[in-house]
Amino acid sequence: AVERTLSILKPDATERNLTGKINAVIEGAGLRIIAQKRVKWDAGDAASFYAVHKARPFYNDLVTYMTSAPIVVQVLEGENAVAKYREIMGATNPENAADGTIRKLFAENIERNSVHGSDSADNAAQEIGLVFQESEIVG
Ligand code: CMP
Repeated sequence: AVERTLSILKPDATERNLTGKINAVIEGAGLRIIAQKRVKWDAGDAASFYAVHKARPFYNDLVTYMTSAPIVVQVLEGENAVAKYREIMGATNPENAADGTIRKLFAENIERNSVHGSDSADNAAQEIGLVFQESEIVG
C-alpha cells in the first residue's frame, strides 16, 4: 500500500551540508518528498517528539543534540514507505548498518546518525501530525 512516513535530516547532516546527498538516496529508492522544511527545534519541540524515549539514559543528550543546529523535516510517500525508509536508513548504530545505507554512508555514531524515520504506520501518522500542517503536505 502507498504509505507516508516522517523523516528528519538531523543536525550532523545539516552541519555537514548533506541535505542534497541524503535526498538523492531517498529519491533514488523511489520515495517521494511530498513535504519538506528546515527548522530549528527548541527543547520543548524535541521533548514532545521524543517523549517515548524520556526514560532512556541517552534522552537528555538526544534533546541537546537535536536542538544544537537546524534539522530538515520531511514527509516521504511511496509503496511501503515506512519499511522502505527504514531499510535505506540502515541500523541505528552506523557500525551495524548495511553497505549503501544512509547511516553507513554518512552517520558519525549511534547518536549523530544523520536521519530519523518513523518505526510504524501509526507512529508515522502521529509524528507527521506533530511536525506538519495538512496544508504543507502536497502529494
Ligand atoms: P532515532 O531513530 O531518531 O530515535 C532515537 C534517537 O536516539 C536515535 O535515532 C539516536 O539519535 C539516539 N539514540 C538511540 N540509541 C542511542 C544510544 N544507545 N545512545 C545514544 N543515542 C541513541
